[in-house]
Amino acid sequence: MGPLAGTQLLALISLTVGLDNGLLKTPPMGWMAWERFRCDIDCKDDPENCIREDLFRDMADRLAEDGWKELGYEYVIIDDCWMSRVRDEHGRLQPDPSRFPGGIAKLARYIHDRGLKLGIYADMGTHTCMGFPGTTLDKIDIDAQTFASWGVDYLKFDGCSSNPVEHMLGYPLMSKALNATGRPIAYSCSWPVYIGGLPPNVNYSLLGDICHLWRNYYDIQDSWDSVQGILEWFSKNQDDLQPAAGPGRWNDPDMLIIGNFGLSVDQARSQMALWAVLAAPLIMSNDLRNLDNGARAILQNKVAVAINQDPMGVQGRRLLQEKNRVEVYWRPLSRSASALVFLSRRTDMPFLYRSSLAKLKYNAGNYEAYDVFTGSTLTGLKATTEFTLSINPSGVVMWYVYPEQRSKETETLHHQRKKASPFTFHKAKPGHLTVL
Ligand code: GLA
Repeated sequence: MGPLAGTQLLALISLTVGLDNGLLKTPPMGWMAWERFRCDIDCKDDPENCIREDLFRDMADRLAEDGWKELGYEYVIIDDCWMSRVRDEHGRLQPDPSRFPGGIAKLARYIHDRGLKLGIYADMGTHTCMGFPGTTLDKIDIDAQTFASWGVDYLKFDGCSSNPVEHMLGYPLMSKALNATGRPIAYSCSWPVYIGGLPPNVNYSLLGDICHLWRNYYDIQDSWDSVQGILEWFSKNQDDLQPAAGPGRWNDPDMLIIGNFGLSVDQARSQMALWAVLAAPLIMSNDLRNLDNGARAILQNKVAVAINQDPMGVQGRRLLQEKNRVEVYWRPLSRSASALVFLSRRTDMPFLYRSSLAKLKYNAGNYEAYDVFTGSTLTGLKATTEFTLSINPSGVVMWYVYPEQRSKETETLHHQRKKASPFTFHKAKPGHLTVL
């Protein structure tokens, strides 16, 4: 089929397809195997870390028992390398029998019994990115039905081993096929990654109609460089990407790598803060069985999570890129609140950054700012009040800002806040606040 025929068919399909099953009004939260556990199928030499049912049961236990589920981390998502190399005699995908002896339906029950949801991975093409059986156009219906029959709640649909015309046909068809199963299944599309991530190649309004979320850009790796590269691409292209997001339709800058090997504590806070402001899926890929308390505290920061999950669902933007390598990100939130992230891209020492809310385009008024990672509250902030922040190299200061008269109500949002702060707010001179 030529590309023109494909386009025409797509126009037809998009008239009839809408994935409006009410899911993911806020970005999904959970855990996914890929970044940390990759395609480790060596269960003989690496039984603790290989892709098999025990790994997903372990992670479900941790999500259910260690305070994650209550915060909203609910999806346990299997990535590539779960499949047998061959389909079954009915043409259905099946799990590798030695690594998933109980089958996926049983694993789904285990996960559902703990109040969690199961995600799975498939690939629009002849093979998955790691060479396992793919979902060609003729297999879309049967695969959607198989996943629904197993009790799957989320599908990550990758795009290796296929061409742009097949993507253009396959992604909407899978949306329709998932809808037709009658089971509400969240649908994550990797389509944009394979066509450059930007308009005109990517039609974000169509994507928003057929997918709940989509990967726009390259895979995250376990390093600060990788996080910075992703952030830079998302910020550079925010005019195209930011308006595409909203309740039920999210850009996905990829997994949270907090708790692994590549990020310092400051960098981990930076990823959490920026992903919150970008309204990104909070899908961790780490080892929840061995997580240090620092990483846990960052990932379980209630206010960072609440900012990410704000019901208005507006994605934030980079407001400023200063010559001194400080960047300011901003996200409007419900109840006239907002989030600010001050990121230092410097590599020397804590940097003193001076600004005011007025300089950041805030209207005149009285505000309070809750420091998300220190738990301190800054009061008596007028839009014109100059403040000075100390931002660590590759670190952030993150503020939840709200109008002063709302302070009583917002208490409930951060009832966890510490009374005694290790940080001090003092007036350095009239009208100037130093936060050190
Ligand atoms: C692609 C995806 C990754 C992961 C791998 C699995 O690279 O972008 O997130 O799913 O495939 O092979």
